[in-house]
Amino acid sequence: ASNGKINIAIDGPAGAGKSTVARRVAEALSYVYVDTGAMYRAATWYLMKHKISPENVREVLQHVPKMVIELKPDPSGQKVICNGVDVTVEIRSLDVTGNVSRYASIAGLREHLTSGQRRMAERKGVVMDGRDIGTTVLPDAELKVFMTASVKERALRRFKELREAADITLEQLERDIAARDKLDEEREVSPLRRSEDAIMLDTTQMGIDEVVDTIVSYCKTAIGWG
Ligand code: DC
Repeated sequence: ASNGKINIAIDGPAGAGKSTVARRVAEALSYVYVDTGAMYRAATWYLMKHKISPENVREVLQHVPKMVIELKPDPSGQKVICNGVDVTVEIRSLDVTGNVSRYASIAGLREHLTSGQRRMAERKGVVMDGRDIGTTVLPDAELKVFMTASVKERALRRFKELREAADITLEQLERDIAARDKLDEEREVSPLRRSEDAIMLDTTQMGIDEVVDTIVSYCKTAIGWG
Protein backbone atom coordinates (compact mmCIF):
# COMPACT_ATOMS: atom_id res chain seq x y z
CA ALA A 1 0.00 0.00 0.00
CA SER A 2 1.21 3.53 -0.77
CA ASN A 3 0.94 4.65 2.86
CA GLY A 4 2.81 1.56 4.06
CA LYS A 5 -0.33 0.16 5.61
CA ILE A 6 -2.11 -3.09 4.88
CA ASN A 7 -5.56 -4.49 5.59
CA ILE A 8 -5.96 -7.27 8.12
CA ALA A 9 -8.94 -9.64 8.01
CA ILE A 10 -9.76 -11.58 11.17
CA ASP A 11 -12.48 -14.20 10.84
CA GLY A 12 -13.71 -16.99 13.02
CA PRO A 13 -16.66 -18.31 15.00
CA ALA A 14 -18.53 -16.51 17.80
CA GLY A 15 -16.66 -16.03 21.04
CA ALA A 16 -13.19 -16.81 19.73
CA GLY A 17 -12.07 -13.43 21.10
CA LYS A 18 -11.80 -11.79 17.67
CA SER A 19 -13.12 -8.38 18.67
CA THR A 20 -10.87 -7.93 21.71
CA VAL A 21 -7.87 -9.11 19.74
CA ALA A 22 -8.71 -7.08 16.62
CA ARG A 23 -9.16 -3.91 18.70
CA ARG A 24 -5.80 -4.42 20.41
CA VAL A 25 -4.00 -5.24 17.18
CA ALA A 26 -5.42 -2.02 15.68
CA GLU A 27 -4.22 -0.06 18.72
CA ALA A 28 -0.74 -1.55 18.53
CA LEU A 29 -0.40 -0.61 14.86
CA SER A 30 -2.38 2.68 14.95
CA TYR A 31 -4.85 1.12 12.52
CA VAL A 32 -8.64 1.52 12.43
CA TYR A 33 -10.71 -1.28 13.93
CA VAL A 34 -13.91 -2.27 12.13
CA ASP A 35 -16.26 -4.61 14.01
CA THR A 36 -18.54 -6.00 11.29
CA GLY A 37 -20.48 -8.13 13.79
CA ALA A 38 -21.57 -4.85 15.42
CA MET A 39 -22.95 -3.76 12.04
CA TYR A 40 -25.03 -6.96 11.69
CA ARG A 41 -26.17 -6.46 15.27
CA ALA A 42 -27.18 -2.83 14.60
CA ALA A 43 -29.13 -3.91 11.50
CA THR A 44 -30.85 -6.57 13.62
CA TRP A 45 -31.69 -4.02 16.32
CA TYR A 46 -33.16 -1.69 13.70
CA LEU A 47 -35.27 -4.35 11.98
CA MET A 48 -36.52 -5.77 15.29
CA LYS A 49 -37.42 -2.27 16.45
CA HIS A 50 -39.49 -1.85 13.29
CA LYS A 51 -41.03 -5.27 13.95
CA ILE A 52 -39.83 -6.73 10.68
CA SER A 53 -39.43 -10.48 10.79
CA PRO A 54 -36.40 -12.08 9.11
CA GLU A 55 -38.85 -14.30 7.24
CA ASN A 56 -40.29 -11.25 5.54
CA VAL A 57 -37.36 -10.73 3.16
CA ARG A 58 -39.21 -8.31 0.92
CA GLU A 59 -39.88 -5.97 3.81
CA VAL A 60 -36.37 -6.34 5.16
CA LEU A 61 -35.02 -5.28 1.77
CA GLN A 62 -37.28 -2.22 1.71
CA HIS A 63 -35.69 -1.06 4.96
CA VAL A 64 -32.10 -1.91 4.11
CA PRO A 65 -31.34 1.25 2.03
CA LYS A 66 -32.66 3.41 4.90
CA MET A 67 -30.21 1.98 7.40
CA VAL A 68 -27.14 4.08 8.14
CA ILE A 69 -24.73 2.33 10.46
CA GLU A 70 -21.64 4.11 11.71
CA LEU A 71 -18.76 2.99 13.89
CA LYS A 72 -17.26 5.86 15.85
CA PRO A 73 -14.04 5.72 17.80
CA ASP A 74 -14.63 6.59 21.45
CA PRO A 75 -12.41 6.66 24.55
CA SER A 76 -14.53 3.85 26.02
CA GLY A 77 -14.08 1.69 22.93
CA GLN A 78 -16.18 2.08 19.82
CA LYS A 79 -19.65 3.57 19.54
CA VAL A 80 -22.19 2.04 17.19
CA ILE A 81 -24.67 4.52 15.74
CA CYS A 82 -27.72 3.44 13.76
CA ASN A 83 -29.62 6.23 12.01
CA GLY A 84 -28.33 8.67 14.58
CA VAL A 85 -29.21 6.53 17.63
CA ASP A 86 -26.42 5.26 19.87
CA VAL A 87 -27.10 1.50 20.02
CA THR A 88 -23.73 0.45 21.47
CA VAL A 89 -25.33 -1.17 24.53
CA GLU A 90 -28.59 -2.46 23.01
CA ILE A 91 -26.87 -4.48 20.29
CA ARG A 92 -25.28 -6.72 22.95
CA SER A 93 -28.64 -7.75 24.42
CA LEU A 94 -29.62 -11.43 24.40
CA ASP A 95 -32.56 -10.49 22.21
CA VAL A 96 -30.38 -9.10 19.44
CA THR A 97 -27.74 -11.82 19.91
CA GLY A 98 -30.38 -14.51 19.56
CA ASN A 99 -31.77 -13.14 16.29
CA VAL A 100 -28.80 -11.73 14.41
CA SER A 101 -27.91 -14.95 12.53
CA ARG A 102 -31.39 -15.02 11.00
CA TYR A 103 -31.12 -11.52 9.53
CA ALA A 104 -27.46 -12.05 8.62
CA SER A 105 -28.48 -14.80 6.21
CA ILE A 106 -30.35 -12.34 3.96
CA ALA A 107 -28.25 -11.67 0.84
CA GLY A 108 -29.46 -8.12 0.17
CA LEU A 109 -28.72 -7.08 3.73
CA ARG A 110 -25.23 -8.57 3.50
CA GLU A 111 -24.55 -6.73 0.23
CA HIS A 112 -25.52 -3.42 1.81
CA LEU A 113 -23.24 -3.92 4.81
CA THR A 114 -20.43 -5.38 2.70
CA SER A 115 -20.23 -2.33 0.44
CA GLY A 116 -19.98 -0.07 3.50
CA GLN A 117 -17.22 -2.28 4.90
CA ARG A 118 -15.25 -2.16 1.66
CA ARG A 119 -15.45 1.62 1.63
CA MET A 120 -14.03 1.77 5.16
CA ALA A 121 -11.03 -0.29 4.03
CA GLU A 122 -10.25 1.62 0.83
CA ARG A 123 -7.37 3.60 2.31
CA LYS A 124 -5.85 0.56 4.05
CA GLY A 125 -4.75 0.43 7.66
CA VAL A 126 -7.87 -1.42 8.77
CA VAL A 127 -8.26 -4.40 11.08
CA MET A 128 -11.65 -5.86 10.27
CA ASP A 129 -13.21 -8.76 12.13
CA GLY A 130 -16.18 -10.89 11.14
CA ARG A 131 -17.09 -14.14 9.44
CA ASP A 132 -16.57 -13.46 5.73
CA ILE A 133 -13.91 -10.75 5.64
CA GLY A 134 -11.12 -12.86 4.12
CA THR A 135 -13.45 -14.71 1.76
CA THR A 136 -15.90 -12.03 0.57
CA VAL A 137 -15.48 -8.52 1.97
CA LEU A 138 -11.72 -8.06 1.53
CA PRO A 139 -10.46 -11.00 -0.54
CA ASP A 140 -7.30 -8.96 -1.28
CA ALA A 141 -6.44 -8.27 2.37
CA GLU A 142 -2.68 -8.61 2.77
CA LEU A 143 -3.04 -10.54 6.02
CA LYS A 144 -5.84 -12.97 6.86
CA VAL A 145 -6.19 -14.76 10.16
CA PHE A 146 -8.80 -17.37 11.01
CA MET A 147 -9.14 -17.45 14.81
CA THR A 148 -10.78 -20.38 16.53
CA ALA A 149 -11.08 -21.94 19.96
CA SER A 150 -13.02 -24.97 21.19
CA VAL A 151 -16.78 -24.48 21.83
CA LYS A 152 -16.16 -25.13 25.54
CA GLU A 153 -13.46 -22.50 25.80
CA ARG A 154 -15.52 -19.95 23.86
CA ALA A 155 -18.54 -20.52 26.11
CA LEU A 156 -16.34 -20.07 29.17
CA ARG A 157 -14.95 -16.78 27.82
CA ARG A 158 -18.43 -15.42 27.09
CA PHE A 159 -19.61 -16.57 30.53
CA LYS A 160 -16.84 -14.59 32.25
CA GLU A 161 -17.63 -11.59 30.05
CA LEU A 162 -21.32 -11.60 30.98
CA ARG A 163 -20.70 -12.07 34.74
CA GLU A 164 -23.46 -10.34 36.72
CA ALA A 165 -25.68 -9.87 33.69
CA ALA A 166 -25.59 -13.66 33.33
CA ASP A 167 -29.08 -14.96 33.66
CA ILE A 168 -27.77 -17.90 31.72
CA THR A 169 -25.79 -21.04 32.54
CA LEU A 170 -22.52 -22.13 31.01
CA GLU A 171 -24.25 -25.15 29.46
CA GLN A 172 -26.87 -22.91 27.86
CA LEU A 173 -24.12 -20.68 26.47
CA GLU A 174 -22.34 -23.72 25.03
CA ARG A 175 -25.53 -24.79 23.29
CA ASP A 176 -26.18 -21.26 22.00
CA ILE A 177 -22.67 -20.94 20.61
CA ALA A 178 -22.85 -24.34 18.91
CA ALA A 179 -26.22 -23.40 17.39
CA ARG A 180 -24.95 -20.03 16.17
CA ASP A 181 -21.84 -21.67 14.65
CA LYS A 182 -24.09 -24.04 12.76
CA LEU A 183 -26.27 -21.24 11.38
CA ASP A 184 -23.21 -19.16 10.43
CA GLU A 185 -21.51 -22.14 8.74
CA GLU A 186 -24.54 -23.47 6.93
CA ARG A 187 -26.10 -20.34 5.51
CA GLU A 188 -25.97 -20.07 1.74
CA VAL A 189 -24.62 -16.55 1.47
CA SER A 190 -21.09 -15.92 2.73
CA PRO A 191 -20.97 -18.77 5.23
CA LEU A 192 -18.32 -18.80 7.95
CA ARG A 193 -15.42 -20.49 6.25
CA ARG A 194 -11.64 -20.17 6.34
CA SER A 195 -10.19 -18.47 3.29
CA GLU A 196 -7.55 -20.77 1.81
CA ASP A 197 -4.88 -18.13 2.26
CA ALA A 198 -5.78 -17.36 5.90
CA ILE A 199 -3.45 -18.30 8.73
CA MET A 200 -5.21 -20.63 11.15
CA LEU A 201 -4.82 -19.60 14.79
CA ASP A 202 -6.27 -21.92 17.43
CA THR A 203 -6.42 -19.84 20.61
CA THR A 204 -7.90 -22.45 22.96
CA GLN A 205 -4.66 -22.55 24.96
CA MET A 206 -3.50 -19.00 24.34
CA GLY A 207 -3.86 -15.81 26.40
CA ILE A 208 -5.02 -12.57 24.77
CA ASP A 209 -1.59 -10.91 24.89
CA GLU A 210 -0.06 -13.88 23.15
CA VAL A 211 -2.67 -13.82 20.38
CA VAL A 212 -2.25 -10.05 19.88
CA ASP A 213 1.56 -10.34 19.74
CA THR A 214 1.31 -13.19 17.25
CA ILE A 215 -0.92 -11.26 14.87
CA VAL A 216 1.13 -8.06 15.20
CA SER A 217 4.23 -10.03 14.27
CA TYR A 218 2.46 -11.56 11.25
CA CYS A 219 1.56 -8.03 10.23
CA LYS A 220 5.13 -6.78 10.55
CA THR A 221 6.26 -9.68 8.40
CA ALA A 222 3.58 -8.88 5.82
CA ILE A 223 4.61 -5.19 5.70
CA GLY A 224 8.25 -6.18 5.55
CA TRP A 225 9.33 -4.74 8.92
CA GLY A 226 9.83 -8.05 10.55
O1 DC B 1 -19.16 -11.33 16.03
P1 DC B 1 -20.57 -11.10 16.57
O2 DC B 1 -21.01 -12.12 17.56
O3 DC B 1 -20.78 -9.71 17.06
O4 DC B 1 -21.49 -11.28 15.27
C1 DC B 1 -22.87 -11.16 15.34
C2 DC B 1 -23.54 -11.98 14.26
O5 DC B 1 -23.34 -11.40 12.98
C3 DC B 1 -23.13 -13.45 14.15
O6 DC B 1 -24.26 -14.27 14.28
C4 DC B 1 -22.59 -13.61 12.77
C5 DC B 1 -22.98 -12.37 12.03
N1 DC B 1 -21.89 -11.85 11.24
C6 DC B 1 -21.85 -12.17 9.91
O7 DC B 1 -22.71 -12.91 9.44
N2 DC B 1 -20.87 -11.67 9.12
C7 DC B 1 -19.92 -10.86 9.63
N3 DC B 1 -18.98 -10.37 8.84
C8 DC B 1 -19.93 -10.55 11.01
C9 DC B 1 -20.93 -11.07 11.78
